[in-house]
Amino acid sequence: MDKMIETGKKEVVVSNDGATILKNMSVMHPAARMLVDLSAAQDVEAGDGTTSVVVLAGSLLSAAEKLLNKGIHPTQIAEGFQSAAAEAVRVLDEIAIPVSLDERESLLKSASTSLNSKVVSQYSNILSPIAVDSVLQVINPESDNNVDLNDIRIVKKLGGTVEDTQLIPGFVLNQNVITSAGGPTRIEKARIALIQFQLSPPKPDMENQIVVNDYRQMDRILKEERNYLLNLVKKIKKAGCNVLLIQKSILRDAVNTLSLHFLSKLKIMAIKDIERDEVELICKSLGCKPIADIESFTEDKLGYADLVEEYESNGSRIVQISGIRNDGKTASVLVRGANNLIMDEAERSLHDALCVIRCLVKKRALIPGGGAPEVHMSRRLMDIAKTKKGFQGICYHAFAEALEVIPTTLAENSGLSPISIVTELRNMHAEGQAHSGINGRITDILAESVVQPLLVSTSALELATETVMMLLKIDDIVQAR
Ligand SMILES: Nc1ncnc2c1ncn2[C@@H]1O[C@H](COP(=O)(O)OP(=O)(O)OP(=O)(O)O)[C@@H](O)[C@H]1O
Ligand SMILES: [Mg+2]
Repeated sequence: MDKMIETGKKEVVVSNDGATILKNMSVMHPAARMLVDLSAAQDVEAGDGTTSVVVLAGSLLSAAEKLLNKGIHPTQIAEGFQSAAAEAVRVLDEIAIPVSLDERESLLKSASTSLNSKVVSQYSNILSPIAVDSVLQVINPESDNNVDLNDIRIVKKLGGTVEDTQLIPGFVLNQNVITSAGGPTRIEKARIALIQFQLSPPKPDMENQIVVNDYRQMDRILKEERNYLLNLVKKIKKAGCNVLLIQKSILRDAVNTLSLHFLSKLKIMAIKDIERDEVELICKSLGCKPIADIESFTEDKLGYADLVEEYESNGSRIVQISGIRNDGKTASVLVRGANNLIMDEAERSLHDALCVIRCLVKKRALIPGGGAPEVHMSRRLMDIAKTKKGFQGICYHAFAEALEVIPTTLAENSGLSPISIVTELRNMHAEGQAHSGINGRITDILAESVVQPLLVSTSALELATETVMMLLKIDDIVQAR
């Protein structure tokens, strides 16, 4: 089920993403905060499995409590859990299926699995290909072992439905064209410049006042201002620029009416409020270089594109740059949605799907989902537990049992009886059907195409164990000033 979160400012967030839910929750207990951090760590490491990791940690903690009650020392439990987790990760490799990045079907399936449980699951047939294509667009499948998700730009524009979400061929801007002075909104053969200075009269560094009491002097100031701006705009035109992106400044106005007037006269498209942290991506995508002052405004710093156009779609204005000549390896995704709630969740879900593909680039192996890997690990660990002596055996057994929380929860969520389902699953795995899992009923989960990256599960297992071990070794809480 999804969660509705009301923030302190009375804003509403609807989400299914574990990390988002926990981040918004107001948790008091310091140990609980560690679980929130755990989920955030999984979000950074794998991007998906942020709910599973906390569920798993909770289950391991209650297993640890039982062991403590039996009189086993916390350090022994921690050690036992650590080696059990290492063993479990090794065992998981047995059922992993190697995947290569040309197997588009497998990539699509894993993206769909991560979207399955989301609010926007009915759009997974649209979002999965977008996630797969945009990752493949920014990497070199042969040589890359990681994906920088900063290279994938996600722009949200209200209007339409999630179905209208698309991977844009080219680049989209968050900002709109300034049209107040009647400047152009469509430029073919664009030569794009990104400037970091302003087209407005300069201000002194210190706060001061100038009193002008002579009418002629006033005239001169106005003339001076006019000349200054005209000079700037002329130099820009001379370098051949016809699309001007202006970085946001907190010191001065990016443009004023007069400079806009000049720009529009010279048919230069102007877009302001480019954020500082966007600069790098824009430069990489468009092949331009940021220009810090007018003296260094030269032609070689411009980026070229066949078309820069602002168009209107479902009530939002969108600036799209297409036919970029010096195309860097970036991708732009335009997320649409009828309201902010659904649009934000679509963005978060898309992020999960992108992360899943990133996991597959990092480690090219898939495992079945739907509780199958947990049952497999649990069964194998129980076998190993029998060969271990003393406390270790008990800890292994407890760890193995704790893993069953995932299939139990999945069964519960599909309205099945958890105990009988998990028992049956265990039997089927014992008979060698290592791919049986839960998808509404017990099935061969691979045949149902429910697959997830190996990395999501191993990272969840390792991170959850690490947190539990850390908690186990604490015996007191000290309040600091
Ligand atoms: N169609 C499906 N049938 C059965 N199990 C599924 C299916 N789709 C996903 N799962 C299982 O659901 C679990 C993931 O659930 P969910 O996506 O809600 O949480 P998460 O991935 O742990 O966290 P989050 O997505 O919030 O970061 C995995 O164990 C996965 O194998
Ligand atoms: Mg998920």
